[in-house]
Parts: sequence; structure tokens; C-alpha cells
Amino acid sequence: MTDNLELSHQQKRAFQPQRLSAPRNFTLPEVLAKSEVPLVLEIGAGKGKHALSFVQQNPDKHLIAIERTRNKFDAFTKLAAQQKSSNLDAIHADAIAWIVHAIAPNSIDSIFILYPNPEQHNPNQQWLNMPFFEFLLSRLKVGGEVILATNIETYIDNAEQQAHEAWCLPNIRRKVKSDSQRTHFEVKYLARQETCWQLTMRKPKDYQTRFDSWTIDNLKSIEI
Ligand SMILES: C[S@@+](CC[C@H](N)C(=O)[O-])C[C@H]1O[C@@H](n2cnc3c(N)ncnc32)[C@H](O)[C@@H]1O
Repeated sequence: MTDNLELSHQQKRAFQPQRLSAPRNFTLPEVLAKSEVPLVLEIGAGKGKHALSFVQQNPDKHLIAIERTRNKFDAFTKLAAQQKSSNLDAIHADAIAWIVHAIAPNSIDSIFILYPNPEQHNPNQQWLNMPFFEFLLSRLKVGGEVILATNIETYIDNAEQQAHEAWCLPNIRRKVKSDSQRTHFEVKYLARQETCWQLTMRKPKDYQTRFDSWTIDNLKSIEI
């Protein structure tokens, strides 16, 4: 099993975390210094609908929700300020650079990627096609999950295939219930009677990536 894992995604072009500068005004959320609570990431949180209800429903978990588009992030922080949930950090940044600079290996319980940009003309930018996905998996704990949802059938087909063949991740594909309302995009697509899918991928025991011991401190020691 482990040999197969090494042979598949470790033949892919490797992501190069050392090339990414820290996002502007980068600071580490306090929770990362002292975390005893389960940590959850959301990538591309939009206006924060899912993030805001997730933290209310899961007071025992801490969510770090990342959104790079300024106007969506502003709408998100406005609502977050009203809700005042202490188990939420809303981050305005590109998630790739931010995760490289902030997140330790084997530290995240689950990762939500809900209705990512379809990238139909640039499939290399779909999350499971990116070399960064291997780095992301290195940040996940064993048994941790990546939860991806989309209304684009070709996106979920490709993600399912990549999860099996490239990343060797046990996964479950299902249709999103027609009354689900987790995000603004989910509400919009389901109101149009579109089918939405979810792929839940689990990091198995003994999973290996090329970044399992890579931390931002490695980089700092090289620079010195
Ligand atoms: C189609 S929207 C979905 C927003 C929200 N998840 C929803 O379902 O309503 C995709 C979002 O991902 C954000 N996004 C895309 N790539 C990102 C990245 N690398 N880092 C942070 N946010 C990103 C975009 O700015 C956009 O708001």
C-alpha cells in the first residue's frame, strides 16, 4: 500500500514551497501557537456563509477560513465581526502561500473546498491537479478529510479519478441534498435545480508525501 502511494503522486512534479513569499501583512493566528482544539481549514470561503454557521455548530473546533477576493472577504469580515465567534479566524490571502507559511505538517483535521472556481479552461488550476495538493495533504492529520463540493460534473469526475489514481486517497462521492444551504454558491446552484456533488477524501494511515517534515522553519534556517 505504502509503495503504491510513493509510486503514484511522488512521480508528479513536486510543489516548491520555498518559492512562495509570505502574504502581505502575514501574522500567525494565536490558535496555531497553542492549539489543543481540532483545526479545520476552509479554502475559498467567499462571503463566509459556511464558515459562520460551521463555527456555531462546532464550538469544539477552530476554523481558519481563507478568501483572497477583497470584496468577498470584506463582506465576510463584516458578518464575522457581528457574530463574534472566538473559534473563527477569517484570513484575507491566497490560500496557497498562506498555508505554506502558517500550517505545520500533520496538524489539520479537515479541509473544506466548497464550490471552487471551475477552471474549465485551465484544468491545471483545479485543486487536485495542482502539485500544491501534495503539500496540502502533508498538513492533514492521518484520518483527516478533504471535503470538496462542486456543481461541475467534469470537475468532480476528474477529482474522483485523481483521488484514486494520483493521490491514492480512499474517498466517497455523493450528491449534495437538494435542500442543503451551506454556501452562497450552493444555494444558487440548487435553486436552479442543478446537481451538486461532494467528494470526501480521507488521508489513510502510513500515507507519505515529500513534505511531511517540511516547515517554514526549514526555510528560515536556509536563509540564515
Ligand atoms: C466560486 S467561489 C465560491 C465561494 C464559496 N465557497 C461559496 O461556495 O459560496 C470560489 C472562491 O474561491 C476563492 N479562491 C480561489 N482561489 C483561491 C485561493 N488560492 N486562495 C483563497 N481563495 C481562493 C475565490 O476568490 C472565490 O471567492
